[in-house]
Amino acid sequence: MPNNRSQTDTSQIETKVVHGGVNIDSTFNSVTTPIYTSSTFAFEELGKHKGFDYTRSGNPTRKALENNLAALEDGVAASATATGMAAITAALFLLKAGDHLITSTDIYGGTYRLFSAIITKFGIEVTFLEDLNNLETLKKTIKSNTKMVWIETPSNPLLNIIDIESVASFTKSVNPEIIVAADNTFLSPYFQKPLNLGCDLVIHSTTKYLNGHSDVVGGVVISKTAELGAQVAYAVNGLGLSCSPFDAWLVLRGVKTLPQRMKAHEQNALKLAEFLESHPLVKKVFYTGLPSHPQFDLIKKQMLGFGGMLSFSLDLEKANINQFVSNLQYFSLAESLGGVESLIEQPWSMSHASMTEEARLKAGLNPSIVRVSVGIENADDLISDLNQSLKLCCC
Ligand SMILES: Cc1ncc(COP(=O)(O)O)c(C=O)c1O
Repeated sequence: MPNNRSQTDTSQIETKVVHGGVNIDSTFNSVTTPIYTSSTFAFEELGKHKGFDYTRSGNPTRKALENNLAALEDGVAASATATGMAAITAALFLLKAGDHLITSTDIYGGTYRLFSAIITKFGIEVTFLEDLNNLETLKKTIKSNTKMVWIETPSNPLLNIIDIESVASFTKSVNPEIIVAADNTFLSPYFQKPLNLGCDLVIHSTTKYLNGHSDVVGGVVISKTAELGAQVAYAVNGLGLSCSPFDAWLVLRGVKTLPQRMKAHEQNALKLAEFLESHPLVKKVFYTGLPSHPQFDLIKKQMLGFGGMLSFSLDLEKANINQFVSNLQYFSLAESLGGVESLIEQPWSMSHASMTEEARLKAGLNPSIVRVSVGIENADDLISDLNQSLKLCCC
């Protein structure tokens, strides 16, 4: 039973995650998507094959995932990659030497490293803006060679929000050729749809919420037009960035429960944020679901939910941060995010350590900030755990 739902599908996301891309296999009418591990596919005769010739270029299991994820983001094409950074790399290869990219200072450390220290070696110029929402500054920064604006919202780890619609429409009004790309890893398409807000590309580290079980490293680039999708697929194939069939299958399996997981992450995150906001050892909580977030109105307008990520600043004069993160029972001290299990980390020394100290300070980071990926465990258990560890770390 061939699947052709992705382009014309008007179903809701709970249905799309389950049905998108599946039923591609007509051999035995398998209900779930089979894993085609074959590296190569036989031609029927010269110039004629069944749609796939070599797994780096295309694979039925990966195709199923790509159809599913394109449908979730309301895009027309997707390329699934081996990592989130591979997805970002593929998007960057739409640029050439001499082009200019604009982004913000408060982005994932690995993206910052790629933008500041790697692609610059290939002649791409990058400007990091402290406030991408400021359209006056953006206007002054856009030049004739500006070819891409890169949005990461909510930002990692301080949960600052970029007004996607405003930045995308302003950029397009200056030059419609500029590609507007958004990293939607922190929210997933369940809580935010950048293509519907004016972006051309959406990027995910599927390692996080889309897979959701901390057992795959992967990525995806989803395009608004078939033309951009073909350019991204060309880069992915040419650079050899595509993901393995097994990893594609795991993400396809994980994504089926995305709505249920996202709701659970969000419910828990809100409870933890409220608890932390009232704790005397906590100086500030960064969470999109708290009315104290300075951009709460924009959040409610742009996002379909608040998500499961929060950060907070510990009062280091009264609390020992190392003791705090080490004495927790349910929160592993680990990088990454978006899995069913709760994780905690210090961005200063972990996820954002690849940024220079100056860049980290400029992005608003300091060693007191702790980032939490709130899992789907029982919220009361998580709060008791935080509470006992905060008591123990008091100095
Ligand atoms: C927002 C964001 N984008 C991209 C990435 C990179 O993804 P990966 O680690 O799968 O390469 C990460 C990783 O943490 C991330 O948090």
